[in-house]
Amino acid sequence: MRNVTAENITETFTGYFGDDTDPRVKQLMSSLAHHLHSFVKETKLTHDEWQYALKMLQWTGDITTEERNEFVLLSDVLGVSSLVDMIHSTPEATSSSVLGPFHISNAPPRAFGADFKGDFSGEVVLVEGVVRDTSGNPIPLASVDIWQTAPNGLYSSQDEQQDINSFHGVFTTDQQGRYAFTTVRPVCYTVPSDGPVGKLLNATGRHPWRPSHLHYIVSAEGFRSLVTEVFPDDDPYLDQDTVFGVRNDLVTTYQPQAAGTFPEQGLELSGKVDGPFSKIQFDPILMAQHQG
Ligand code: BEZ
Ligand code: FE
Repeated sequence: MRNVTAENITETFTGYFGDDTDPRVKQLMSSLAHHLHSFVKETKLTHDEWQYALKMLQWTGDITTEERNEFVLLSDVLGVSSLVDMIHSTPEATSSSVLGPFHISNAPPRAFGADFKGDFSGEVVLVEGVVRDTSGNPIPLASVDIWQTAPNGLYSSQDEQQDINSFHGVFTTDQQGRYAFTTVRPVCYTVPSDGPVGKLLNATGRHPWRPSHLHYIVSAEGFRSLVTEVFPDDDPYLDQDTVFGVRNDLVTTYQPQAAGTFPEQGLELSGKVDGPFSKIQFDPILMAQHQG
C-alpha cells in the first residue's frame, strides 16, 4: 500500500502477512492490530501518552529479574492472567487461579497430616480435603503442592528469617484421595508495588492487596494439572483482589473448633494443638486429560 491512511492501515497491516504465515499467528496478529488500532483511534492517543506507555514497558523490562517478573504481574493486575484461565476452565472441575511468583520447585514431600507451622504463632488451621475426578471418585496418589505466606505476610523466598521450604510442601493423596495438614492461617498481603505496576495501580486509584489464600497445584496421572488458590470467606479483600483470582468455588469457611477436640478421630496428625483451632475443607476436582 503506497497511500497508507488511518482508515486502511489495519487492512494494510494484515495484507503484509507472508503466504506461509502460520494461521494461528495470522489470527492473533490480525486481531491484535485491529484492537490496538481501534484503541488509538477511539482514544485519540497523543504522542506524549504513547511515549509514556512505551517508557512504562521499558521500565517493566528493566525491573524484571529471575525472581521478579513485572510482565507477569502486569498481566495479573490487568486481569489477563485470570481471563486466560477462565476461558479455558470447565465448569465440572475446580476453577483455576493465578500461580503468582512464589511457588518453589522441589518443595519437600510431606506426609499425610504433616505440620507446616512449626514454631510460628497465629490462628492454627487444620486443612483437609479429598482430590476427586469430575464423577466424584477419589483420586489416590495425586500430588498436592501447597504454599502460603507466613503470618508476617511474606513467602519464604521474600523473607530471610524463613527457611526456603517454610510453608511449602507436596502431599501425596492416600487410597481415599485424602490429604491433610496443620498450619497457621495465611494473611492478606500486597503484590510488589514499587515498580511500574504499582504506578499503574496508583494512577487508577487501586490498592495492591490480595485476600489471604493457600496456593495449590494438584496433579495426577491422566488428569489436567490444576493451579488454584483457596480463600477464606471473611477476608476484607475477597471482593477486591488486585489480581482477580477469586472464584465462588474457591471460597471456604474457616470453621472454629473448640480446644481439646484435636486431633480428629481417624487422622494421624503430627502437629500438636492444645487450644482452639479452625478447620477448612477443600476438595479439588480434576478434569481427565481426554475430557473437554
Ligand atoms: C501470589 O498470590 O502469590 C501472587 C499472585 C499474583 C501476583 C503476585 C503474587
Ligand atoms: Fe500468594
